[in-house]
Amino acid sequence: MIADLTDLRTWLRGLPSFERDRLPPFDPEDAPADPADLFLTWLRDAVAVGSPAPHAMNLATADAAGAVTARTLILKDLDARGWHFATGSHSPKAAALAQNPNAAMTSFWPALGRQVRLTGIVHDLGEEAGAADFLARPPTSRAAALVGRQSEPLASRQEYWDAYAAALARVEADVDGVLVAPEWRVYALTPHTVEFWAATPDAGQIRLRYRRSADGPSADRAWTKGLIWP
Ligand SMILES: Cc1cc2nc3c(=O)[nH]c(=O)nc-3n(C[C@H](O)[C@H](O)[C@H](O)COP(=O)(O)O)c2cc1C
Repeated sequence: MIADLTDLRTWLRGLPSFERDRLPPFDPEDAPADPADLFLTWLRDAVAVGSPAPHAMNLATADAAGAVTARTLILKDLDARGWHFATGSHSPKAAALAQNPNAAMTSFWPALGRQVRLTGIVHDLGEEAGAADFLARPPTSRAAALVGRQSEPLASRQEYWDAYAAALARVEADVDGVLVAPEWRVYALTPHTVEFWAATPDAGQIRLRYRRSADGPSADRAWTKGLIWP
C-alpha cells in the first residue's frame, strides 16, 4: 500500500499542467478597465485554440450552515448583471443560493494556462428570463429540464428514461412553443472581485485582480485593478 502511495505521488508529480512554451502572452499593463472585456477576450482565445467546453465554469455555493458544494455549469450570458447560468430552482445549488447568495465561479483553460476566479452575489433573474432560456434550448434539453428533480435519489435508470420520454413527448406535442418548466431559472453572479491568473513560460504566473469600489449600485461602480502576489 505504501509503495502504491509512493508511486501515486511520483506519478502525480510527473503529470504536466501546461505546455509552457505554447502559452500565449498576457501583459497586465494592457488589461481593459472592465474585467468582463478581458474575460471575453480570454474565452475567445480558448475557443480559438479548441479548448473543450470553453464556456464551462465551476460554481461554488455555501448554504446557511456554511456547507460548501461546487459543480460545473455552462455560461449562458455575460452582461452588466454578471455571469449567467441556468438551472432548476429546485436543485440543491438553487436551494443553497436562496439561503446564501454569496458564491464563486472559476474558469480554467489548460491549453492557455489561464484561470479566472469570480466572487460575488447571485441573483435569480426571474420567471421571464427562465422561460426565455428554456424555450431557446433544443427539445432534448427542454425535456431533460422538464423532468426536474435534479440531484434527488433515483431508483433506476429506467425510471429516469420513462420520465424523460414522457417529458420529450410533451415537448414534441408543444407545436406553439409555450411549454415551459416553471422552475427553470437563469441566475447571474454579480462579481465583487474578478481575478485573472496566467501561467508564464518561465514557470511563473501573473495574477491581476479587479475589485468593485464599495459605493454605488453594483452596475455603476467602477473597478480598480492591481497585481497580486503569486
Ligand atoms: C460540462 C458540464 C456542464 C454542465 N452544465 C450544467 C448547467 O448548465 N446547468 C445545470 O443545472 N447543471 C449542469 N451540469 C451538471 C452540474 O454539474 C450538476 O451535476 C447539477 O447541476 C446538480 O448540481 P446541484 O446538485 O449542486 O444542484 C453540467 C455538468 C457538466 C460536467
